[in-house]
Amino acid sequence: MAVLKVVDRDGVEHEVESQTGLKVMEVLRELDYGVAAICGGMCSCATCHVYVDPEWASRLPAPMSDEKDLLTELSHYEARSRLSCQIDFTPAVDGLKVTIAPDE
Ligand code: FES
Repeated sequence: MAVLKVVDRDGVEHEVESQTGLKVMEVLRELDYGVAAICGGMCSCATCHVYVDPEWASRLPAPMSDEKDLLTELSHYEARSRLSCQIDFTPAVDGLKVTIAPDE
């Protein structure tokens, strides 16, 4: 189990405890205030877009080129944008904080 801190689209911060071994998206899509994740993690829809907390941004593996390509097409893209389906939810990221990006 590990904790994921989630800031929803209303700016409210939540702490979610979930099993590890999932993608961050899989944790978020179970939440009422979470993400749609329409493509199911195939890196093609960007409905799992989040902003990683600055403290964590450099601690995650860098995005692969297909993730980066999709992110940079988004109107709400920022330097710390990530697709949550491409982030492993492991014990190493216990306490990771993400903010759910606005709908496109
Ligand atoms: S769930 Fe579709 S890109 Fe992440």
